[in-house]
Amino acid sequence: MAKRVVLAYSGGLDTSVAVRWMIDNLGVEVIALAVNVGQEGGSDLADVRERALAAGAVEAVVADVREEFASDFLVPALKANALYEGRYPLVSALSRPVIVKHLVAAAREHGADAVAHGCTGKGNDQVRFEVSTRALAPDLDVVAPVRGWGMTREDCILYAYDHNIPITATKEKLYSIDDNLWGRAIECGEMEDPWAVPPPGVWLLTKPTATEPRDLVIGFEAGVPVSVDGQALSLVQLIEQVGAIVGSYGWGRIDMVENRRVGIKSRETYECPASLALILAHADLESITLERDLAREKARLEPRYAELIYDGLWFSPLKDALDAFVDESQTAVTGDVRLHLSPGSCQVTGRRSDQSLYDYSLATYDAEDAFRHEDSAGFVRLWGLSVETWSARQGPGSS
Ligand code: ARG
Repeated sequence: MAKRVVLAYSGGLDTSVAVRWMIDNLGVEVIALAVNVGQEGGSDLADVRERALAAGAVEAVVADVREEFASDFLVPALKANALYEGRYPLVSALSRPVIVKHLVAAAREHGADAVAHGCTGKGNDQVRFEVSTRALAPDLDVVAPVRGWGMTREDCILYAYDHNIPITATKEKLYSIDDNLWGRAIECGEMEDPWAVPPPGVWLLTKPTATEPRDLVIGFEAGVPVSVDGQALSLVQLIEQVGAIVGSYGWGRIDMVENRRVGIKSRETYECPASLALILAHADLESITLERDLAREKARLEPRYAELIYDGLWFSPLKDALDAFVDESQTAVTGDVRLHLSPGSCQVTGRRSDQSLYDYSLATYDAEDAFRHEDSAGFVRLWGLSVETWSARQGPGSS
């Protein structure tokens, strides 16, 4: 049995109750770890630390991992244009492995023999926490109090009152929200009916406030976004800035029913202005910088890469091997993409690169045309030879 547990602590109701519940029911010492991955209020975790201590934690640690999250987790996903089931940029799925990395580091530092999370038994996040922990530190136990305690939301609130655990009352309780630099996921409430229109109040990052159309030029170097409108920015700044600008046009919302790892179909709403705009721009730049066969093979692997992340296999040999492929593919993905923003819309209107494979003299229909038209006759004849033969012997040309 574990004696000392590092809990991934959000400051919300469940993880606050979990601190005390584990102390009372498992007889463990709890160290709370709050990780800033760019969530709302993430820069203000001092208060969260106090809450963990008030709930009974022997120690509460705050880690700002935004730069690491951006460079080591979001950038690889961007290079792979990672969209689960073609739509979801993996907001929550990407943050769990970085949180686990720091949980494991904190466990080592504080001599803990287990880590804990506040996930329920129905979601994907338990899978990501536990599989990642087993990949990084198979000797550590994983404790999942919320999965087993059988308390309803009301029970938890009563438990908190009974044990003097400070909680932030009932404000955001209607919805289950998870957010970070890459976007925001909103679940539960009336949206559990897949036909129900998400109430306007759920949107935070995509409130349409901008009215004047504008352009936004994203600069990339070797697949990594480095500038906005020619101004070099750190990754965190760049992601925040793109998110703020694109979001102000009300663009970046996703409403989908997705397949969870545990077999449940789940209605999900997301707002991901930064990640969707960056993936849109990045994929477009690849259209001029990746050779055809490389581009096609990469496109074939991208959904697999997204599935691995979704399914909790960030730390896995297939993921490492795919990263090597993707990294190799990115050496020439350097250049600019222009996005045009207008209310409700974000569209690519131009791309340029010193490494571009777009050859004007081959593509043009003007006088500068350097394409060898005469080569096409034999090429096309041989290309069609197989079906021509088939047609004559077996098909429409045989009768
Ligand atoms: N369905 C998404 C995923 O599995 C989001 C989960 C977000 N969690 C939440 N508490 N809203 O990655």
